[in-house]
Amino acid sequence: MLIENFYENVDMLHVNMMPRRNYYIPFESAEAALTASRRSQSARFLDLNGQWQFSYYASILDVLDWTLEDLIATHKDSIAVPSTWQNSGYDQLNYTNVRYAIPFDPPFVPTDNPVGLYTRAFSVEEADLGLDFHLNFEGVDSAFYVWVNGQWVGYSQVSHSISEFDVTPYLQAGENQLSVLVLKWSDGTYFEDQDKFRTSGIFRDVYLLKRPKQHLFHYLVQQELTDDFSKASLDLDFLVMDPDVTVSAYKLYSPDGQLLEEGQDWSALTVENVALWTAETPELYTLVFQVGGEWFRERVGFRRFEFIENVLHLNGRPIKLYGVNQHDSRPRTGATVTIEEQIEDLRLMKEHHVNAIRTAHYPKAPEFYELCDQYGFYVMSEADVEEHGVVELYGRGWNANYNKLADDPRYIEVIKDRVAASIIPNQNFASIFMWSMGNEAGFGVTFEEGLKYAYKLDPIRPRHYEAFHYADPERDNDTTYLSCYSRMYPTLEETEELYLKHPEKPFVLCEYSHAMGNGPGDLRAYYELMQQYPTFMGGFVWEWCDHAIVLAEDENGKAQFGYGGDDGSRFNDGNFCVDGLVSPDRVPHQGLKEFQAIHRPIVIKAVDPEKGTVTLENKLFFAATGTRFKAKLELQENGKVVAEYALVLPDIPAKQTAELELPFTFNTAVLTHLNLHVALAENQSLLPAGTFVSSEQVLVFDHALVLPEVERAVNTADWQVEEFADRLEISKGNLVWTFDKTSGGFSDWSVDDQSQLESPMTWTVWRAPTDNDRRVRQAWQDAGFYQPLTKFYSCDWEQNGEDFVLHTHVGLTPIYREKVLDVQATWTLTAAGQIKVSSHMTRNPLHPFLPRVGLQLGLKKDLSQATYLGQGPWEAYQDKQEASYFGQFESPVADFYEHHIRPQESGSHVGAHQLILQNQVGQGLHIQSQEGFSFNASYYSLETLTETKHDHELVEADYLVLLLDAKQAGIGSNSCGPELAENYKLLDESFHLELTFNML
Ligand code: GAL
Ligand code: MG
Repeated sequence: MLIENFYENVDMLHVNMMPRRNYYIPFESAEAALTASRRSQSARFLDLNGQWQFSYYASILDVLDWTLEDLIATHKDSIAVPSTWQNSGYDQLNYTNVRYAIPFDPPFVPTDNPVGLYTRAFSVEEADLGLDFHLNFEGVDSAFYVWVNGQWVGYSQVSHSISEFDVTPYLQAGENQLSVLVLKWSDGTYFEDQDKFRTSGIFRDVYLLKRPKQHLFHYLVQQELTDDFSKASLDLDFLVMDPDVTVSAYKLYSPDGQLLEEGQDWSALTVENVALWTAETPELYTLVFQVGGEWFRERVGFRRFEFIENVLHLNGRPIKLYGVNQHDSRPRTGATVTIEEQIEDLRLMKEHHVNAIRTAHYPKAPEFYELCDQYGFYVMSEADVEEHGVVELYGRGWNANYNKLADDPRYIEVIKDRVAASIIPNQNFASIFMWSMGNEAGFGVTFEEGLKYAYKLDPIRPRHYEAFHYADPERDNDTTYLSCYSRMYPTLEETEELYLKHPEKPFVLCEYSHAMGNGPGDLRAYYELMQQYPTFMGGFVWEWCDHAIVLAEDENGKAQFGYGGDDGSRFNDGNFCVDGLVSPDRVPHQGLKEFQAIHRPIVIKAVDPEKGTVTLENKLFFAATGTRFKAKLELQENGKVVAEYALVLPDIPAKQTAELELPFTFNTAVLTHLNLHVALAENQSLLPAGTFVSSEQVLVFDHALVLPEVERAVNTADWQVEEFADRLEISKGNLVWTFDKTSGGFSDWSVDDQSQLESPMTWTVWRAPTDNDRRVRQAWQDAGFYQPLTKFYSCDWEQNGEDFVLHTHVGLTPIYREKVLDVQATWTLTAAGQIKVSSHMTRNPLHPFLPRVGLQLGLKKDLSQATYLGQGPWEAYQDKQEASYFGQFESPVADFYEHHIRPQESGSHVGAHQLILQNQVGQGLHIQSQEGFSFNASYYSLETLTETKHDHELVEADYLVLLLDAKQAGIGSNSCGPELAENYKLLDESFHLELTFNML
């Protein structure tokens, strides 16, 4: 047999693997340790990434009877290391969420277990043969066997972990051969049921470290801060070290590169007036030190995280976590991500005021934590554990099955191993403030032991584990080592009742505001709760990025994205993987703009119009505003900006306010808003000067909006009416209106025989379901909200002075159900050629809440430029309009619709009072309303958006689709989170829509 079966044996997790140690790269000199910007610059680091020879076998049975030599001789292909098979054209991509991707039969895996054999050569110099060679794998999914020069070295598993092997005895001078057999499934698979595309292979870096025989192996950086945080002491704990090495010199450099101290006496290593590390001020000292023939480098961030009376503190001050959950996921390479890509993500996070990351649901490669130390993020680092699939089994049913593996003592070592793999390498990183034991794996003895072990490994950092929530209440559960309570997606009420009113432990939302598709719509509500309760640490939005695969590229090289099911897999979870704040290619969704707006660092605390002042508050926890920001103030009257002022910001210390004099006086008699736009005044690590920081608006004087009537020439011709069975034709000289009884609105409106409507006005209650509507969609469809029939009851008309007035009564009636909406509308056609509609719509209270209520119509496609007075410039819904504010905005119609991978309602603007759609020569439609409305303009019909499965399959309508809503339901985050809050549902008895249409 080629190999011994360790992969179906939970008592053999690693064979011949070196003990785990803290992550470091040894250097050859102090100089190299200090200046290397990449680890590959160390002369002791041998990069083994690159093209490897490769053979894929659909089943392990195809290799077991062969010798390694024979298998190597038949290699025909090659593959990049790191990469995944499935993103390199091998095997089958599969996206599953909760369900296991294999039959549940632990520790066994399918007989036909796909494997990949990798081989590469590397050379060793004769002169180096006296050194030790340690081979490192930073991530291999799911289990692997290693050979050097045909001799078997060892076995390891735990996909997201570092496995190190001492290959010294197998090496020879000159060329050497390294082979790795990777198995797709192993007993580890039962503990790695994370919601993601399931991929395989050597997906993280591989390298060799050259080390002197006698060396330091494992050390801990210990730091201590005095109670006033002015002074730090630093010590190294040499945990594993060969007896014959001596610790010699160290040098300590300040964050700005000054040599502070050098010497040999560790006990004297102290720093006065220490610059503290925070996410806002990621000050890192550099310690280089020599042990035996090697130099080491540690970047040290001096900081102290602690809970004081259940409140999370950093360096003595309470902080909040405004975080995201982040998977390693790229559309072309899957779980393989480059440093540059990681930096791109961190840059986007900084830009949008994210200060914390949960490494969902496994540890990152060590360089990621270095980046978090450097750029400043609070990291909850999670162990590579998820056993969610147990809830899909027969037995007690769904969540009652949760503890099946978690409370089985046979798996204690499995969990402890995974906890160790997550903690030991990463223990010296300043950014990690808490360890998470994993995700969705239930609770029981394995986690009690796991938590205890985590405490043993690191008594300083607290421990998180959300699935304690599923502990069996009948069992005597030990929470001694559980540092906080945590939940995902609870309602606000539950959160408050269970965890905040009478806090037993600190509380965190490890997941909230599920950002799938158009959403999330509830960020503000959770934010307010975080502010209200000091023991509420904050939370992590689910999730950072959409996961997707590239199905094809269009002629411009633009990717066409797909999701579960598009991969050809039999069991998959569709587009549930497309739930990020950024698209797969990192275009921020509008949900991220919402996050950015809510967590802005500078807010207007008050405006005092009498004194003529505005008070700004610095919401940062540590950093003074200093010279970081520049601001612009706009005075907005009646919705229009009338004056702009560059604002010189004083230096506002963290959490403090400053009162500024306004450079103008107000006109108290008009609707007045003050707008504040903030940008970076200077480069700030990842972000260049000029980067947008925030926009904010304050209502200063609340008067009625004054909407001027559009000046129109009065048409003096007589009114003419002709009634037909299906329509009514009304004309006045060159103006002709056709009221269509079947649609309940106007089907045409022509001026000088030029028809203006391309598709009739109809009443509608439908919106193309968003992902957050997925749980109500069926109820909406069952109630007949999609494509109901319009019933025409009556219409009568009168001439009223100069105007022609039409009273219509129609209803929206679904097949086999009672009426959804009753619409009584008064249409006034004026001598100036306008249509004014005033409608009273009554909802059937027996039906579910409505998605929207309003009119839809089709216009000429060339009305491609929009100007509107309403909530903008971003998409705005009742519960998703934090990034937007009231004002006048311009936009190409094409920019309104946000292209989500699965088409859905998107791009509406609530709070509108005026909308002008024009073509190149200024012709078009002008709509206004004193009462206000919500509009949506795009080139996609409701049917198209409802029924198309992928963005690239969208087919434009022949006309511009305009929706004018009296009201639209909120967005929420019910795709995974709580039901849409009652106040954002359309449960009103009746609705009113009032609009004036003018042709331009
Ligand atoms: C949570 C889980 C995440 C993800 C999310 C849904 O239950 O922890 O991994 O599956 O739901 O997108
Ligand atoms: Mg899960």
